[in-house]
Amino acid sequence: MNLKVTYLILPLMLGALTQHKAAAQTVTIPVETSKNALVLQADGKHYLNTIYFGPKLNDSKEYSNVAAAYGSNHDPSGQMASAYTPGGSRNLLEPAISVIHADGNYSLDLQYVSHKTDHISDDITLTSILLKDPAYNFEVTLFYKAYLKDNVVEQWSNIRNNEKGIVTLQKFASANLYLKAPAFWLTQYHGDWAKEMRPEETRITHGIKTLDTKLGTRANLFEPSVFMVSLDKPATEDDGTVMYGGLEWSGNFRTDLELDPENNLRIISGINNYASPYQLKPNEDFVTPAFWYTLSKNGKGEASRNIQHWARNYKLLDGKGSRLTLLNNWESTFFDFDEAKLASLLKDTKKLGVDLFLLDDGWFGNKYPRNGDHTALGDWQETKTKLPNGIASLVKGAQDNGVKFGIWIEPEMVSPKSELYEKHPDWVIKQPKRDEYYFRNQLELDLSNPAVQDFVYGIVDNLFTKNPDLAYIKWDCNAVIYNAYSAHLKNQSQFYVDYVRGLYKVLERIRAKYPKVPMMLCSGGGGRVDYAALQYFTEFWPSDNTDPLERVFIQWEYSYFYPAIASSNHVTDWSKLPIKYRTDVAMMGKLGFDIVISKLGENDLRFVQNAVKTFDEIKPVVWQGDQYRLLNPREGSVASIAYVNEARTTAIMFNYLVNYRYDEGSIQPIRLKGLDPGKQYKVKEINLYPGSRSGIDESKTYTGDFLMKIGINPKVNSGRTSVILEADAQ
Ligand code: DGJ
Repeated sequence: MNLKVTYLILPLMLGALTQHKAAAQTVTIPVETSKNALVLQADGKHYLNTIYFGPKLNDSKEYSNVAAAYGSNHDPSGQMASAYTPGGSRNLLEPAISVIHADGNYSLDLQYVSHKTDHISDDITLTSILLKDPAYNFEVTLFYKAYLKDNVVEQWSNIRNNEKGIVTLQKFASANLYLKAPAFWLTQYHGDWAKEMRPEETRITHGIKTLDTKLGTRANLFEPSVFMVSLDKPATEDDGTVMYGGLEWSGNFRTDLELDPENNLRIISGINNYASPYQLKPNEDFVTPAFWYTLSKNGKGEASRNIQHWARNYKLLDGKGSRLTLLNNWESTFFDFDEAKLASLLKDTKKLGVDLFLLDDGWFGNKYPRNGDHTALGDWQETKTKLPNGIASLVKGAQDNGVKFGIWIEPEMVSPKSELYEKHPDWVIKQPKRDEYYFRNQLELDLSNPAVQDFVYGIVDNLFTKNPDLAYIKWDCNAVIYNAYSAHLKNQSQFYVDYVRGLYKVLERIRAKYPKVPMMLCSGGGGRVDYAALQYFTEFWPSDNTDPLERVFIQWEYSYFYPAIASSNHVTDWSKLPIKYRTDVAMMGKLGFDIVISKLGENDLRFVQNAVKTFDEIKPVVWQGDQYRLLNPREGSVASIAYVNEARTTAIMFNYLVNYRYDEGSIQPIRLKGLDPGKQYKVKEINLYPGSRSGIDESKTYTGDFLMKIGINPKVNSGRTSVILEADAQ
């Protein structure tokens, strides 16, 4: 075939591929990535089941034999493996969807009609499968977006009401997976303020384990939606089969993990249907958020590198771009500042050498100035007594110092003592017949209301319109939703869903006008981070807990699911650990400072100034490189993590003492990972404290093979609690 013909024929062939195929007796639908396959099959009765989820087979024709190979012992419903379990007809287990039809009937049945696969790019396919109820004019399209290189799949569903009247969705999951293995282990996370991402691993037993939140905003405060499931045996960093998943939704979520009577694991994840039956009008669609997942046969490390890579390429805003280092004033001033104090902080920003000064909470409100956390949220005008010349003069002051200026807002919130509350009580989420109940002395605005959406959008738009050189926003969210009620909505059961949709509408508008201005997603610590929100944000705030010892653990767990470039890490005075330790830990992400620079001793100042320069050199590797966890802080006295660039010519290895008992430290060499075995590397210690000498012999050259099989000892001990090594190929 000559070249011209290929060009003519290929689009025709691709076109043919994307046509909906009519139902055959059995239809096998593999959704493949480079390593894995999720295989769905419509049986002779048109019921769509998941027949396989695992490493992909060399010959895709063999998928049609998988179901028979596993067999089924006893499934009277014939529905345990359903690809999207409808409730109210034959189901005996947890449904993915349940509805009340227009005629009041509760039963739903879904049968395969057709499917197609679109090739969106060399790296992405989108498979859609249409299912219909044979008795009611009601349909669901399942979507599977497969990212081939990263072995990630995003799955969601489009639920459509073609009936003549309103259908009420009682449950409306995004995904319904089915895993087969002799045994399963769940790693889930729990926490609270300053205690984020505490892992728990347990063997999954029969029945249902539910991970969920009902907090509305700040939804992850007690529990994030991300989790891991190990198959066969608990996976380790480099061994075992493990699946990671999470919901792309910034509100209430619910994931049910049900070990069924056949010993298979059903995972059903989506928006939490708690207090949320959703009414669909005739000809209306309900599009669920996506549930993302990845599967690795080589342990947790590979799974997290898949996700981090996918996030940088496709999800996180400006994931391949750069970030601004900064000095924040929250912990150094809290609400107590004025122009003179800020002028000196701007000078400190310059002195420190970071890119930007970030003005935190406390700059707004006049009738009720924001001098504490009881007032002024909603009144986004500069407090005249504190800042008589406004934000504009601060932006200018920053420019005069050669740095950029960023600002904190908490735009979804309202203080009971605020002009906004007085003017628009109907914009506030509260129960009309009940006492108000506060979280951090504040309430939320009703983002299901388009007028409120305009107001919240206007906060950001006004700031940028008045101050076009404003370079950064920290978007905070410090309260959960109590007394959920919207004065705007007729149907209160749509409140939780419409709040989040309202939030996304605002963020969509902000990003349409200001596509790349960096914004930090903050929520009084890690109360809100997920891959729906991160499409609008460049980074997130993992925890208010900035004690570096705590952060070693917190950042370690976040890193399974989110890349370092998204993690805002600030050096603060939360702990008495040396400034070097605090700074080294913050360098494993996006470095910032929240300390009083003018109070630093000479050597500490010199150290942080040099650290900012060192960080500028190593940040491409930390932000864009592959992360390898080398020593787990939960398993020994030393934590060790390395980042390796794509060319495998540079590795940055961070090592910390995490056990302060007598004589603890790194007694053996630590094996690196991800290097090129054939390359020669020199290893040096970087980010040394002024006057200290490296414990490493920098004259030696090692092969990657040696460094990965034998390793190198960073000599972490009570005198060297934090050590950063850099290995460079020669
Ligand atoms: C909670 C954030 O996590 C802090 O960093 C700070 O911005 C405060 N809110 C301000 O109220």
